[in-house]
Amino acid sequence: MSPSLDPQEFAWLCTFLRNESAIIIDETKEYLVTTRLAPVLKELGLKTLSELLTQLKRRPLTAVHQRVIEAMTTNETSFFRDLHPFDTLRNDILPELVKKRGGAGLNIWCAASSTGQEPYTIAMVLREAFPDVAARSKILCTDINNTVLERTKQGLYTQLEVNRGLPAPLLLKYFDRKGQEWQVKEELRRMIDARVMNLAIPWSGVAMMDIVFIRNVLIYFDIETKRSIIGRIRKNMALDGFLFLGGAESLLNIDSDFARTMAGKSTLYKRAA
Ligand SMILES: C[S@@+](CC[C@H](N)C(=O)[O-])C[C@H]1O[C@@H](n2cnc3c(N)ncnc32)[C@H](O)[C@@H]1O
Repeated sequence: MSPSLDPQEFAWLCTFLRNESAIIIDETKEYLVTTRLAPVLKELGLKTLSELLTQLKRRPLTAVHQRVIEAMTTNETSFFRDLHPFDTLRNDILPELVKKRGGAGLNIWCAASSTGQEPYTIAMVLREAFPDVAARSKILCTDINNTVLERTKQGLYTQLEVNRGLPAPLLLKYFDRKGQEWQVKEELRRMIDARVMNLAIPWSGVAMMDIVFIRNVLIYFDIETKRSIIGRIRKNMALDGFLFLGGAESLLNIDSDFARTMAGKSTLYKRAA
């Protein structure tokens, strides 16, 4: 294990991560930094975190900076995570929006989509309920971590990953066996548009969205960053669109222009009238 950083170096690293990714790490998380950056040191042939910091202090930003940011992201995800948001999507949200749009394709955004289990879950739910609409719909997947987006594009998952939450009939219907792994079929992969995006920086070129999933990422940001991201997402949403957050997240004291609503077992948000 590499010798730890002195308090000033640790503070510098926290500021770097906050500035470049909006992720907040405090002094209680030094173990997290040491554990997550140990493989990066090994890859770069460095012995200490101080040596890594010397590289991080150089500008312009390079692949080393990106590697460190990626190492510090938490990419935990699974198919049908929490289950009820996808029941609500199938039973309440999709029927309403498909009817309102007269069967036109939907624009769905999965922000902070990690390795893709969440957007492919949405794709399967849509495809099962409204196959024609699914064929015309796009799911934008964005994440700050390019490595997880590359995995999303490939759509390759291990046995362990498909065992977590994916019902067997959907595995057999929408995946092909590829050696030890399972690959999402082309009919779902072509619904996906995967792009690197740091949510903390204003974006452009994003279509008006009918549905936005931004789950289990706001927890890593401070309140000002949450406000600015949610405010920009609101402006990128259709007036009758729906926003899904993670189970531990809410918009209380964050954005009063979103109204909280219940559908099925889910709490979700609509733009206030
Ligand atoms: C815990 S995962 C959530 C995945 C999925 N939404 C879910 O709920 O299962 C959090 C994701 O947020 C991404 N992330 C962290 N900071 C980000 C930022 N500033 N901009 C965009 N994505 C970010 C991470 O790379 C990670 O893939």
